[in-house]
Amino acid sequence: MLQQAVEVHRAGQLDAAEALYRKVLQTRAGQPDALHFLGVLCHQRGRSDEGIRLIRMALRAVPRHADAHNNLGNIHKETGELAEAEACYRRALACDGHHIDALGNLALVLEAQQRFQEARRAYADLPERAPQLSRAHYLKGMYLRRHVDEIADLEQAVACFRSAIRCDGGNVRALDALGVTLYMLGRRDEAVGAYRDWLAHEPDNPVPRHMLAACGGEAAPPRADDAYVRDVFDQFAESFDEQLLENLDYRAPQVLVDALVGILGAPAHALDVLDAGCGTGLCGPLIRPHARRLDGVDLSGGMLEKARLRGGYDELVVAELTAYLRERPERWDVVLSADTLVYFGDLGEVLAAAHAALRAGGWMAFTLEALDGGNGRLELSSSGRYQHERGYVEQMLDEAGFVEARMTASALRKEVGKPVAGWVVLARKGGFARGQA
Ligand SMILES: C[S@@+](CC[C@H](N)C(=O)[O-])C[C@H]1O[C@@H](n2cnc3c(N)ncnc32)[C@H](O)[C@@H]1O
Repeated sequence: MLQQAVEVHRAGQLDAAEALYRKVLQTRAGQPDALHFLGVLCHQRGRSDEGIRLIRMALRAVPRHADAHNNLGNIHKETGELAEAEACYRRALACDGHHIDALGNLALVLEAQQRFQEARRAYADLPERAPQLSRAHYLKGMYLRRHVDEIADLEQAVACFRSAIRCDGGNVRALDALGVTLYMLGRRDEAVGAYRDWLAHEPDNPVPRHMLAACGGEAAPPRADDAYVRDVFDQFAESFDEQLLENLDYRAPQVLVDALVGILGAPAHALDVLDAGCGTGLCGPLIRPHARRLDGVDLSGGMLEKARLRGGYDELVVAELTAYLRERPERWDVVLSADTLVYFGDLGEVLAAAHAALRAGGWMAFTLEALDGGNGRLELSSSGRYQHERGYVEQMLDEAGFVEARMTASALRKEVGKPVAGWVVLARKGGFARGQA
């Protein structure tokens, strides 16, 4: 009966699994495995206190049960009790020094507690204790990439990802990480190899296809494919704010809204505004005081859900930006777009659609990544984002029908510790805005 309970538990049938664990405990009161697994299940169903109590009962019966200590640690980790979690993982390792899950979890909670030297040692321990385990090399590499003190850290991370792939050629997360780290090191040709290998394992995955083009291994598309944008940002949604604001010094929403406010003047809750590619809604609170109505559109449902939780928008729609704008002529006084048109190479169509969606006298405000040079070029860079020259942007604004354009250079985020050069662009549609003579 216990085995059956574990099977249905693994299959995600939590009601059936809970009933079976309880039946086991009715016939064998205190059966430690049933207590342990039922504890895990209770936590999964949001009853973490009950889960902790049950696993502690199991551990009173079998004190040297490494898996139970590890799972108890996981519950504490997920409920934010990091010191408790650390103690559990250490107890698991005292029972079984080769318990790789416990060691990986210990490294993670040390990192979360910002005890970086200890975390680094714990991550380094992983492949030493389990040299054949692909994930052990991968986790060490990811730690090094998250905490780059010097270029040697990135080189060591590359070596870790290569070892992970040697252990398991189908570890696509390691292939992904290898590609990104090689691009961070400027080793574009080698990155092409990593993306080709990843694509060979997952031919329908839009992410390696886009990144292969970004590294020059295939022709660049006119804009990032919808499936690529959705995949990347749905996965990124959970950690986007933390990653961008804390690690990458992301300033695009603030810098863009500051520039726009210089034109709009004092906030009067008077304008209809679209946040185009609103993501998790970082622009929302900044522009809200100027808005009578604030709409948001984004391709990624995951990102949009975060914007919904943040609040402040009147309507949020999951849609592709150009098509969405085209269907709504003369709808807004302001269309603002922070760090979204970097996923567009050809700006012609989206700017024409934005022009049509603005009312007379309305403003389009957006940021881009800057490309040096004077030939009116654009380029898909190996980061996967497009970069545009000033001349190209000016020409596209002109062709779309904007009458007044202001472009300023500004660093909008960092990458590998260095500021990324960007443009802040404001452009006006001709005619007079409401209320103007
Ligand atoms: C880097 S995020 C920026 C989000 C937000 N504007 C901010 O500054 O925090 C880029 C966003 O653009 C969205 N995006 C990219 N291409 C898009 C398209 N063609 N249509 C709609 N949204 C798009 C992505 O889903 C993502 O949420």
